[in-house]
This record gives sequence, C-alpha cells and structure tokens, in this order.
Amino acid sequence: MTLAERREALSLSFRRQRVAVVLPLITAAFQRTGKCRIIDLGGRAQYWDLFDRAFLEANKVHITTVNLEVPEGTADPMFTEIQGDTLNLPQFPDLAFDLAHSNSVIEHVGDWGQMERFAAEARRLAPSYFVQTPYFWFPIEPHFTAPFFHWLPEGIRAGLLMRRAHGWAPKSADVGEAMRQVQSARLLDKAQMRYLFPDGRLVEEKVLGFTKSLMVVKP
Ligand SMILES: C[S@@+](CC[C@H](N)C(=O)[O-])C[C@H]1O[C@@H](n2cnc3c(N)ncnc32)[C@H](O)[C@@H]1O
Repeated sequence: MTLAERREALSLSFRRQRVAVVLPLITAAFQRTGKCRIIDLGGRAQYWDLFDRAFLEANKVHITTVNLEVPEGTADPMFTEIQGDTLNLPQFPDLAFDLAHSNSVIEHVGDWGQMERFAAEARRLAPSYFVQTPYFWFPIEPHFTAPFFHWLPEGIRAGLLMRRAHGWAPKSADVGEAMRQVQSARLLDKAQMRYLFPDGRLVEEKVLGFTKSLMVVKP
C-alpha cells in the first residue's frame, strides 16, 4: 500500500466513526417530523455512500448539498445539489431543514469572520446540527500530513511548500500559490468551536489518546 493509499484508508476509517455520531440525529429528526431533510454544507453526494442506504430510506432522508464546486450531477432523487456559498443562503428560510451537516468544511471557508458566518447559517437553517473539523492541537496537519506544519508561521509554511509537495498539496510553483495553499485551511481549537456553536455539545474524536478532530453536535 502506498503512503497516499494508507492516508486515504485512515481518513475513511475516521469518516465511518463519525457516521455513528450522525445516525441518532437522523433518527431523532425522523421521530420528530416523519422525515429528515438534511442540508450538507460544503458537502458532496458521494460522501453519503458511507451511510447505509436502507437506513437513509427508512428515515425518509433527503439531502441538499451546497458546495462551491460544480455538482457531481447525481440522478439520485435522494439528493438536490446546489452550487453555492454556504456563508450566504438567503434562498432558504430559517429552519428550512431538520439537520445541518458539515464534514471538514469550516476550516476551508476563510478567516474568522467567514467562519462566524458559516456557523450562523448552520445554526439558522436547522434545529439540529453536526459540524466536524480537524483539531488545531493535534500534531499532524491532515491536509499537508506533516507533523507540526500548521504551527509554523505562514511564511515558513509557504517556503516549505515551494520546496516540495506536502500531503494533498503539490509543490507550489511560486509564493502566490504557496500562500493560497497555506491559507486554504485554518484549523480551529475547542474554545473557538464552542464560541461558534454555543448550543452544541463538543465531541472529541481521538486517536491514541490524542484529540484528532472536533465535532459539535446539537440533537
Ligand atoms: C475537505 S472538502 C470536504 C467535502 C465533504 N464535506 C466531505 O467530507 O467529503 C471541503 C469542501 O468544502 C467546500 N467549501 C469550502 N468553502 C465553501 C463555501 N464557502 N461554500 C460552499 N462550499 C465550500 C469545498 O468546495 C470542498 O468541497
């Protein structure tokens, strides 16, 4: 198995563990309303292959994905795919969904002000939410898969990216590309997640006793 394949397998195993946290939220929404309308912020239809299809159907799940990327174009009636910005979804009224879901997105939306807008939209759109993000104080940065990388000053990180590829990031051609890579992911700590989602419960995903990622869950 190559390093990239091992990284992909590990990431998949963590995603599967997260599914266990989401399932009760879906069941609760179904018990409340007889269906479960999910908005997946920064989501992709393919991600939901992690879930048991029979479970999703039994709980009358419908998923609206919103992503800046061009949609996959699935013909599956369980999905509505929207190309858009999760920071600004005026087309949906308050509580238009039963569950707001987001996996590994908030760290990509931009600076603190944009994270606040992301959190406000997630909390506005549904009475229940699940938002996951990698933890700042876990020593290995998941995007660049390098120990302590994200704790270095931005200029040093950019310099390292211009020298060679790191994790998912290819070697940068120049400092502009390197800075875009560096600023494409900003990891959060527990106090920041608690501030952004004050009515949620913080759940820590652990590996070898260390907190690897943070989930905020509002049932
Ligand atoms: C690491 S991927 C995670 C994708 C998916 N949630 C998953 O777990 O497979 C981050 C995604 O967030 C999307 N994204 C980042 N900022 C966004 C924004 N402001 N609005 C919508 N999507 C955004 C990106 O396009 C990208 O697909």
